[in-house]
Amino acid sequence: MPRIFVTRSIPDNGLKLMRDALGAGSVDVFPHDRVISRDELFTGAKGADALLPTLADPVDTAIMDTAGPQLKIIANYAVGYNNIDVKAATERRIPVTNTPGVLTETTADLTWAILMDTARRISEGERYVRGGKWQGWAPQLLLGADVHGKTLGIFGMGRIGQAVARRAVGFGMRVVYTSRGRLEPFLERQLNARLVDKATLLAESDFISIHCPLLPETRHAFGAVEFKAMKKSACLINTSRGPVVDEAALAAALKAGDIFAAGLDVFEEEPKIHPDLLTCENAVLVPHLGSASLETRAKMAEIAASNIVARLQGKTPPNCVNPEVL
Ligand code: DGY
Repeated sequence: MPRIFVTRSIPDNGLKLMRDALGAGSVDVFPHDRVISRDELFTGAKGADALLPTLADPVDTAIMDTAGPQLKIIANYAVGYNNIDVKAATERRIPVTNTPGVLTETTADLTWAILMDTARRISEGERYVRGGKWQGWAPQLLLGADVHGKTLGIFGMGRIGQAVARRAVGFGMRVVYTSRGRLEPFLERQLNARLVDKATLLAESDFISIHCPLLPETRHAFGAVEFKAMKKSACLINTSRGPVVDEAALAAALKAGDIFAAGLDVFEEEPKIHPDLLTCENAVLVPHLGSASLETRAKMAEIAASNIVARLQGKTPPNCVNPEVL
């Protein structure tokens, strides 16, 4: 019977799918409800035929080599896979899979929740009420920014970027976007969207929402220079990957009033957050909840498990990000 090592408990449907297909004893789940340590990951990976890590678990050459030559698949429990050394996996002819599609709309919903919160100071207002500070309605209390009719900048117009832009139509917004490729003209019309360069995106947007993958060229794509180039009234939203934003520079920009506010679901060194950000009232800070709905996390479990079952049954895993190994 193969051994599948799952680094953290995932929804039951995924575990059941693997147990039903590959044997009741095939699934070995890390038993603690916390991020697995490096040493524990080495121990768990040793001799595994399949690894099912989460985005919090770096899977590099050392882990792959410790697992051993029988390792046949790494099925990441996320759509992003920057935690996996895909090049090393490809060299070892190990397919790496992700969970695309199912979390697009859920992440777009969360992006909008954070955007609205950031613009209208909802979390700040909540803290104010619970802190016993509210003395009653006041003409100038916690004034935020209008969202409707404004310009939304999308940095990275992939699946999630487009889902965020679709929601902007209902708010009567203009969309400007940067992307490797241009959208079809009918989509641009539907989304009221215009492809621009980064400088234009920074200069024209009232809200900038980041939806690019984390790559060497997108690391710190938003830093001091970008914040200075944005409108002082602008809000920055990041639900992609933390290191795309330079957190120290963002905290400085928020304190200096270079931009109005920021809403972050992702951080440079999760779960650590730059201490200066924690003291910014105009930062909405969320613990990486992009895909965290009951429905979506169950679908992600099903996809990761199906990829493992396919591979261990000698079939093609449907969501391989390095198909050249197959
Ligand atoms: C992903 O799958 O990459 C998301 O960030 C999870 O929330």
